[in-house]
Amino acid sequence: MNIAVGKYSGFCFGVKRAVEMVEELLKSGPVYTIGEIIHNRAVVEDLRARGAVPAASAEDLPNGARAVVRAHGVPVETLALCKKKGVQVFDATCPFVARIHGIVQREAQKGRDVVIVGNALHPEVVGIRSRAGERAFVVYDRSEVQKLENGAKVSVVAQTTITKMQFESCVDALRQKYNEVEVFHTICTATQDRQDETVELAKQSDAVVVIGGKNSSNTAKLAELSRLYCPKVFCIESAKEVPSILANLDSHDIISIVAGASTPNCMILEVRTSMSELEKTVAQEEEKAAVEAEAQKADDAAEDDFTEAFEKTLVRIRNGQILTGTIVQITDSDVCVNIGYKSDGFIPKSEFDYTADTNPEDMVKVGDEIEVEVVKVNDGEGNVLLSHKNVETKKAWERFIQSAGDGDTVYDAVGKEVVKGGVIADINGIRAFVPASQVSTRYVEKLDEYVGKPMRLAIIEVDDKKKRVVASQKKVLLAEAEAKKKELWQSLEPGMKVKGIVRRLTDFGAFVDIGGIDGLVHVTEMAWGRVKHPSDVFKIGDEIEVLILSVDPEKERVSLSYKQLQPKPWTTAAERYPVGSIVEGKVVRIVNFGAFVSLEPTIDGLIHISQVATTHIAKVEDELKVGDIVRCKVLDVNPEAKRISLSRRDVLLDEMPAIEEMIDDEPEAPQEDEKVVIPPMESASTSLADLFPKMED
Ligand code: F3S
Repeated sequence: MNIAVGKYSGFCFGVKRAVEMVEELLKSGPVYTIGEIIHNRAVVEDLRARGAVPAASAEDLPNGARAVVRAHGVPVETLALCKKKGVQVFDATCPFVARIHGIVQREAQKGRDVVIVGNALHPEVVGIRSRAGERAFVVYDRSEVQKLENGAKVSVVAQTTITKMQFESCVDALRQKYNEVEVFHTICTATQDRQDETVELAKQSDAVVVIGGKNSSNTAKLAELSRLYCPKVFCIESAKEVPSILANLDSHDIISIVAGASTPNCMILEVRTSMSELEKTVAQEEEKAAVEAEAQKADDAAEDDFTEAFEKTLVRIRNGQILTGTIVQITDSDVCVNIGYKSDGFIPKSEFDYTADTNPEDMVKVGDEIEVEVVKVNDGEGNVLLSHKNVETKKAWERFIQSAGDGDTVYDAVGKEVVKGGVIADINGIRAFVPASQVSTRYVEKLDEYVGKPMRLAIIEVDDKKKRVVASQKKVLLAEAEAKKKELWQSLEPGMKVKGIVRRLTDFGAFVDIGGIDGLVHVTEMAWGRVKHPSDVFKIGDEIEVLILSVDPEKERVSLSYKQLQPKPWTTAAERYPVGSIVEGKVVRIVNFGAFVSLEPTIDGLIHISQVATTHIAKVEDELKVGDIVRCKVLDVNPEAKRISLSRRDVLLDEMPAIEEMIDDEPEAPQEDEKVVIPPMESASTSLADLFPKMED
């Protein structure tokens, strides 16, 4: 029997401090403890016998008593009641717990919500909550986070004894509920160290003995973890129970002793000693049995010579051992392997992945050598249970660990199942946990979309001891997007024409997405004319072609021009304003020699003073003012000089015949004194020009 004791077993710092405080106080008289000082009946009873009486609550304390607050701490209401009753309080709250009190008090005062991840009924959590203000919530797991309402700012703390995984899962869920999440890592490392050590010892042992109070949650947790890796786990409260477990132990067993935070070292030592004594007894009995066997052997020497010689060639095996054997038979249910032991071992056929098209015989055949792990030396029916898959899984893990390298490797994987807080993916036989926040670059509501689908993963955490892999698809996607962006930056050059989509408008320009990068078309680069606001030219979603003016990869800026891919207005002015055509425009400026009329933002035409009216005018202002809308005839277009000559006079004259007709259609001849003398006309225009003022007179 090989017995080892976990080095992290026994009193943690906080519990040791509390017990020592009680012992110190006992020197000066009886004292109360508010609740049992630790979860260990023997210790509590021993202290009670010496004068330390546990009170269920502050109500039960006599006025003026002395009372110790245990390592878990107490709610503020309890302290207030003690004060009221004149109770002298000695505070043994563990400094790690007291730190959480301070954090929640401060965060609540800032007006933030406070979330405590832990067991709402645990005394430590009750004490923390009492200090966390009105907006304090206790959640045990992710599903409880989902029930919280969305909020703005939250601060998160953990009960000291919860697991890191439980805490991280809740924090991850909170990030989807709150805009701002501040995380305080308050898990006590003493608990984590003890749990990690227990797992390691359980993996290497044939039996684990857990010492601790039946009502201690951290002792229960150690037993639960041990059972995951070791078939024989015994929970005892004291050395008195050691004989009861011995019947279940084998003299060759490797045994580990672990203990919860409430177990004093003396008790661990007592158990260890008791087990060693029993070990001696067992060894003596075995020795006696061996002597008897020898005697028996001597008696049967003649006939047993052959058997004895044969047995000497047999190997000793133990659970977890890896051996190489030879396949001797393949039955309907098992692959039978000779491992040199007194009986052959069996690998269940189900271990070999086979389908309707393949069967194990295609993968292994009688006579093959095969590596196997001993799962059970005796499966209850005298058979040795073996596993080939376990060996393959271990090898795959080793290969994986070697290749996991710097975390930049991208693995092809397949989504297998949705679990609390994320997705389990398979990377060549290795199970990897992908937290929900790492599945994609966007928020994923239905994680089951990924089940059965290919994924590409980067490894973000590997725990070789726990065989735990945490991976991220988001990291891969972000890296790819970054690489694409880099490539795009390298491909951009001034003078290139590119297509893009208008994403955003500001007062000074439009941001255009040119394939993952947003470039700016400044308002002065939108049109050849003056643009008041970018929305006069573009709307969000417009697909446009732009010219790259400049690229600055360091500052990640691209300047674009839209107008330079549009024809210059004067280039086509002659076609758009042909001589003789009638145009309409606004008078924008009046000068001595005429009026400038805006035909479009960048083209003004000039009406010379002689072309403003049908009669001679002294000043342009006699006929026109800025802002008037006028119709004019195009007299001349000179794109090189950027000039267009216009005539308002011609348009007015063209409208004159209608007036003549009005005169012609007059039914009665005018009276003598009303007659108009019409001079002989050389041309219609001159006659009408002369006529027009007279008519007006
Ligand atoms: Fe304190 Fe950690 Fe123990 S919080 S009481 S030292 S388990």
